[in-house]
Amino acid sequence: MASSHCFAPFVFLLLLVGCSGRPFYPLPSKLADGDRQPLQTSRPYNIAHRGSNGEIPEETAAAYMRAIEEGADFIETDILSSKDGVLICFHDVTLDDTTDVAEHKEFSNRKRTYEVQGVNTTGFFTVDFTLEELKSLRVKQRYPFRDQQYNGKYTIITFEEFISIALDAPRVVGIYPEIKNPVLINQHVKWADGKRFEDRFVETLKKYGYKGSYMSKDWLKQPAFIQSFAPTSLIYVSNLTDLPKIFLIDDITIPTQDTNQSYWEITSDAYLDFIKDYVVGIGPWKDTVVPVVNNYLQTPTDLVSRAHAHDLQVHPYTYRNENSFLHFNFHQDPYAEYDYWINEIGVDGLFTDFTGSLHNYQEWSSFKESDDKNASNLLHKIASMVSPYGRA
Ligand SMILES: *[C@@H]1O[C@H](CO)[C@@H](O)[C@H](O)[C@H]1NC(C)=O
Ligand SMILES: *[C@@H]1O[C@H](CO)[C@@H](O)[C@H](O)[C@H]1NC(C)=O
Ligand SMILES: *[C@@H]1O[C@H](CO)[C@@H](O)[C@H](O)[C@H]1NC(C)=O
Ligand SMILES: *[C@@H]1O[C@H](CO)[C@@H](O)[C@H](O)[C@H]1NC(C)=O
Repeated sequence: MASSHCFAPFVFLLLLVGCSGRPFYPLPSKLADGDRQPLQTSRPYNIAHRGSNGEIPEETAAAYMRAIEEGADFIETDILSSKDGVLICFHDVTLDDTTDVAEHKEFSNRKRTYEVQGVNTTGFFTVDFTLEELKSLRVKQRYPFRDQQYNGKYTIITFEEFISIALDAPRVVGIYPEIKNPVLINQHVKWADGKRFEDRFVETLKKYGYKGSYMSKDWLKQPAFIQSFAPTSLIYVSNLTDLPKIFLIDDITIPTQDTNQSYWEITSDAYLDFIKDYVVGIGPWKDTVVPVVNNYLQTPTDLVSRAHAHDLQVHPYTYRNENSFLHFNFHQDPYAEYDYWINEIGVDGLFTDFTGSLHNYQEWSSFKESDDKNASNLLHKIASMVSPYGRA
């Protein structure tokens, strides 16, 4: 517990003063690849949703560094663009809910209304701000019931800065970037060379050495999953990179943003058969996999077994510790939720707002497995329990 109290000032100093021997910039890490603990591939992936955003404002450097400390296998991010075509890590197409943009008088005339996935949306759009302007804003916590002490401390980061954090980690940590709102971005941002958003996205990954199919030697060195809700984007980038891709699936009421297909269409056996040529898995919202009525789980759908029958992984979103998100079946215990999804539903990865909780659950429950009969493995596990926030 003490370490969680020490952490905030540490990150703050690291970012502002650069007090550490390990530089935040530039790339790449000085550690030789051979020295780094590899990605674990023997149990479902711990995917740090927007970093450790349960603790620190989402998609900030501090949230990602915290997630790495806490044991994330992958750090997850949403990629959008600035007006001048720089790819940034930011979830919403508007800045309103998670930055201090409203307090910046110089931008008060920047509010716009655009149609986003069929809905007229008003706000301060990232696509109307240059990177320099975006960097003058500060990020804040999305939910009022989470820790507000970090509001105003951190900037928006670029895709390249995000990659630098993963590559600089003391062990191999994968990245899990989303091609976010590609229809809107391609409408509003024009790149000088006629390239589109997806081209820039893949070029950035290639620039930093991300390549290779799932579980290949190159991939294990720098693991990455590319995710998108837009099948057109996933099919387009399949021509540009063989990195594994994950097809995100929204709520049952929401059609795909690019192809206007219904939930039922894209989860049919015929569609899974089609999309498996382009992706290694799907990322559905968990409440569509196991429907919920009156905050109680109902009978699970067959989506996971059908996806597995098509050799597709399933990485549902989003797991959150707070009682307001935990269904009553789990009696306010996030470990009970992880146990259910991992051991009963059998998912292959989990997007979580609380990477530390999922990591601790997986470490502690792994004692049940047979490999603890091997004394050195057991010792390793004990060591990782004694210092859960240790540097691997
Ligand atoms: C959005 O607003 C424009 C301009 O008022 C209007 O023409 C359009 O139909 C609206 N779109 C939707 C989806 O409501
Ligand atoms: C992929 O590349 C091939 C060959 O260059 C081309 O014919 C095809 O249209 C491309 N597919 C997409 C989705 O861009
Ligand atoms: C999307 O599909 C629905 C249902 O088939 C249809 O009513 C709607 O007009 C379509 N929207 C667009 C933009 O094509
Ligand atoms: C225990 O397992 C690890 C990896 O699973 C292996 O490297 C090590 O040699 C094993 N030790 C013994 C004593 O079998």
